[in-house]
Amino acid sequence: MSNKDLVVAAFAAMEKAYAPYSGYTVGAALLSKSGKVYTGCNVESASYSPTNCAERTAFFKAISEGEREFEKIAVVGGKNCNVTELFMPCGVCRQVMAEFCAKDFEIIVAKSTDKFYSFTLEQLLPHGFSPKNIKI
Ligand code: THU
Repeated sequence: MSNKDLVVAAFAAMEKAYAPYSGYTVGAALLSKSGKVYTGCNVESASYSPTNCAERTAFFKAISEGEREFEKIAVVGGKNCNVTELFMPCGVCRQVMAEFCAKDFEIIVAKSTDKFYSFTLEQLLPHGFSPKNIKI
């Protein structure tokens, strides 16, 4: 799957966002090493803290389907589905990525389906804490 196809899937996922409190909509499309795409959107809550980010929605859907290995993720976000700038995943989502992904896991951020840029997990979470640190 090309990066552009994954970005297109992230834009479609953003349309499903449930964000009545912030109005900030986020979509993610995660490609597993098995070749399947798992999409996710942010899901907000009236009590705020249960809110789940789009990236984690995608990861948790995939993990609960038995996936454990991932290649790349595309993410987009903006107010009311209006993407005007690059959206960067939050720290909590970067930590969840570090749980399941190698340092070279690719994170694609997009302004449009034609303008997108790649980072590695290592670039976005340098010196991170990961399962390797806790192994006994
Ligand atoms: N959000 C995400 O979906 N992903 C992130 O990485 C950061 C923030 C969502 C959570 C909330 O619904 C909205 O964006 C505003 O913070």
